[in-house]
Amino acid sequence: PKIVLHAPNGALFTVDAQIGASVMETAVKHGVPGIVAECGGALSCATCHIYVAEAYIDLTGRADDFEDEMLDDTVADRKPNSRLSCQIRMTAALDGLEADIAPEQ
Ligand code: FES
Repeated sequence: PKIVLHAPNGALFTVDAQIGASVMETAVKHGVPGIVAECGGALSCATCHIYVAEAYIDLTGRADDFEDEMLDDTVADRKPNSRLSCQIRMTAALDGLEADIAPEQ
């Protein structure tokens, strides 16, 4: 499945994800700028903040309680479509997933 990411510098990246890989892992692997992912996906840094495009929110599901708390500590403004990208695992149904990377991590 493909992921379309809008980097903070305005560049658009369309990258191939493996099923089961997280959005964070996929972005880092492809050198997409803007995701820091300090904790490597352990859900303890909140530096993998993205804004999921409206059309995909139902497909990605919502943040669980712990992620929800972590989202209160992001550097960039939290929005209703904020997610930590290490917590979204790719499925075939998520093909085309589009998101903006938060301007600051
Ligand atoms: Fe640290 Fe997502 S990479 S919370």
